[in-house]
This record gives sequence, structure tokens and C-alpha cells, in this order.
Amino acid sequence: MPVTVVDHPLVRHKLGLLRENSISTKNFRELANEIGRLLTYEATKSLPTEKKMIHGWAGPVEVDQIVGKKITVVPILRAGLGMMDGVIDMIPGVKVSVVGMYRNEETLEPVRYYVKLAKKIHKRHAMILDPMLATGGTLIATINLLKEAGCRRIMGLFLVCAPEGLARLEKEHPDVAIYTAAIDERLNEHGYILPGLGDAGDKIFG
Ligand code: PRP
Repeated sequence: MPVTVVDHPLVRHKLGLLRENSISTKNFRELANEIGRLLTYEATKSLPTEKKMIHGWAGPVEVDQIVGKKITVVPILRAGLGMMDGVIDMIPGVKVSVVGMYRNEETLEPVRYYVKLAKKIHKRHAMILDPMLATGGTLIATINLLKEAGCRRIMGLFLVCAPEGLARLEKEHPDVAIYTAAIDERLNEHGYILPGLGDAGDKIFG
């Protein structure tokens, strides 16, 4: 399973600011979107382009254009919304597919409560957004429903991943590419990532 840690100084710096426990809601939101932008830059690196002739200031000129507009972003409610504006800044034409899922804090199993996918999603490349991959249950359930809808090309963008969740994903969906700002140490006994970010959903939404 391809896992890319986007180890850019800007990303590392911004992630460090995000880990500060007393961070304000405003700063958390801004930084999550800024890192979302930088992860998108990396994750779209291999999008195919084609040549096109246009009228430049000095006559015809050949330019590159991305082939088609076939991406859907899939923010996982709630916290995934906290990265979405940054991603859309970079690829403004994307369609949005919304998946509502929360983790039962006792069983740590994902509970699905809302799904609204973009039309013809089976023709699109899905870019899942969530600040955290902890046990991996939420991501795996989201990939399952996207694959059931016919989606074949799927990637996930995260601020922080736990090794435990990545190992589980490798077993269940080795075809899904992951882009993350960091792979942290481990999960604690409550399924929280250490050192992690705390509860990103609460930090963004209250
Ligand atoms: C968090 C996080 C992921 C999930 C990760 O969401 O944003 O969606 O937990 O955990 P997992 O990998 O163990 O499944 P949360 O349940 O806190 O919901 P929220 O975004 O609505 O706050």
C-alpha cells in the first residue's frame, strides 16, 4: 500500500503548531486547511495532463492541461470538513461526496449516519479527507461504501496516522494510496493517537 509522508518543512512546521493543546479554534481551522492544500499538491502530482494549443500573447502556444475533471473529494464528517476548503482551493472544480461517520467511543467501531455521493462517482477518483486515521475503522468503512458505489481509484489525505490503522488498511485495502503529514507513535488505550492532535472534530466544531 503506497503511503506518502509529506515531509516538507512547511508541513512539519504547521503540524507542530497544530499539536499545541491550547490552540484556538481559528488557528486549528486555518492550519488544517493549509496542510490540506499542501497534501493536495503532493497527492495530485501524478494526475495525467494533455497538450493543448491556445492563443498566447505572441501567437499559438502549446500548454499542459489536466485531463478531464474527474475527482471527487470525500470529507468524512465532521472533522474532514476542516480540511476541505484548503483542498478545494487547489482543485476548484471537484465534486463533493459527503460521508457522515463517527466512532463509538466504547467499541471504537464506526457508526454511519449520512451518505451523499457525487453523481457518476464510479467514473471519479475519490480523495477521502479526514484529519486522523486511528484504528482505521472509519476509513475502511468509507472505502467499503465507495467501492460498493463502483469507485475504483481511491486515495486518503490525513494530517496524522497511527501505525495500527495503517497496518489494518494494508490488509483490507492495499490498493488505496495514503498521503499524510505524519505517522505518529501509537494509539492509547482509548484509541487516541499519540502524540496526535487530540479530538480534531471537537477542536474544529466545539
Ligand atoms: C475521528 C476522526 C476519524 C475517526 C478516526 O472522528 O476524525 O473520522 O475518529 O478513528 P478510527 O480510525 O479509529 O475509526 P470522530 O469519531 O471523533 O467524529 P467527528 O469527526 O464527528 O468528531
